[in-house]
Amino acid sequence: MTTSSPTIARFDPHPGLRGTLRVPADKSISHRAALFAAMTPEPVRVRNYLHAADTNSTLAAIEAVGARVERRADELVIRGAGLRNAHETAQPIDVGNAGTLMRLLPGWLASHPGQSWTLDGDSSIRRRPVDRIAEPLRRMGARIEATDERFPPFRLHGADLQGIEYVLPVASAQVKSCVLIAGMTTAAGTTVIEPAPSRDHTERMLARAGAPVEREADRVTVRHVDELGLDAIDVPGDLSSAAFFVAAAVLVPGSRIVLQDVNVNWTRTGFLRIAERMGAIVVGELEPHGSFSPVEPVTELDVAHGPLRGTTVAAAEVPLAIDELPLVALLGCFAEGETVVRGAGELRLKESDRIATVVDGLNALGGSLEATDDGFVVHGTGGLCGGRISSHGDHRLAMLGAVAGLASREGVEVEGMDAAAVSYPGFERDIAALSRR
Ligand code: S3P
Repeated sequence: MTTSSPTIARFDPHPGLRGTLRVPADKSISHRAALFAAMTPEPVRVRNYLHAADTNSTLAAIEAVGARVERRADELVIRGAGLRNAHETAQPIDVGNAGTLMRLLPGWLASHPGQSWTLDGDSSIRRRPVDRIAEPLRRMGARIEATDERFPPFRLHGADLQGIEYVLPVASAQVKSCVLIAGMTTAAGTTVIEPAPSRDHTERMLARAGAPVEREADRVTVRHVDELGLDAIDVPGDLSSAAFFVAAAVLVPGSRIVLQDVNVNWTRTGFLRIAERMGAIVVGELEPHGSFSPVEPVTELDVAHGPLRGTTVAAAEVPLAIDELPLVALLGCFAEGETVVRGAGELRLKESDRIATVVDGLNALGGSLEATDDGFVVHGTGGLCGGRISSHGDHRLAMLGAVAGLASREGVEVEGMDAAAVSYPGFERDIAALSRR
């Protein structure tokens, strides 16, 4: 188990970030690469895997259930157990802080009749709901016994799964992925109906691994497969990590940054579209791509400082920018006019309650924000004074505080900066690299 520690880091007003950066590998795709490799009977080479706390939890988890992971200098070689051959574990599987691991791994394990596993994690994961995966898995024939019927630790009992048609109550890529992974072992196939598009890395990886997967409007269907076939996966750079530097470049006068090899899958680039609407200049390939190519589109982003105006983020945009909405709040503080985010109640269920932590955190730095049930309203005041913000053990809050400090008038102290290591262990080093003249 991990707990947040009170590491304090200070970020002073910056004279302008300049240079070229390759951001860390995508966290969502790394989790999936490890899980898919673990389900594949042949060895899979994974290049540019993210080495961060969350994705290390996934490697440990797949090793616990029977995969072998060879850590070479430039790649991982994962020898999987095969689709129906995960091993039972005597000890609980520790998912650490990783919600994606907690919600995707059961999709695989659920298809093992007569076997069961316990999953648990840190104090943040213990307040994140698993009933959203328990319900569809129960309808498929598996069973989850959760704490208070909703939270980890929980016990998962596998079964011979039956295909279902599942209408997602919330636009969640994690739940969609769990059901699709479970669905590929069902004889009749399984369909998920999404209320709005969400990240589609699982669908792309299923297609690449030879599982028959089709999209028709809001319906994604996966059909039966005996075994997956994959040989190599290249993980692109993480737009969610790049987004902190997009925001920093836009907010800090004198900045101009080039971010290389960033994944611009259209189901992830909502933040770039919102930032552009606010006036940010981000050059790169932002056009939608066909969502069923087995590859992920990658581009270079070239970002410069510029003035911003407020905007309204509609509910349908939320899943496409879910992890970047704290940065929309930060941009809103520096914009002219009001920035409104609605339909984002899911933020309350992230690594922290991100409506409360973002609104309170930025208000403590001199911002003017109001929380609503399902989002926030930011009254742009042209900047932030500075002060102290707590990460609450949430990696994205820690990095938000750091960027706020670089753009502030008096600097920001971030309490619990070490949380950044969940997705971006080299974050402070990369700020330093863009600070060299
Ligand atoms: C993720 C999906 C999103 C996102 C999370 C990663 C994924 O969660 O917030 O950081 O890798 O599928 P939800 O699907 O629960 O919205």
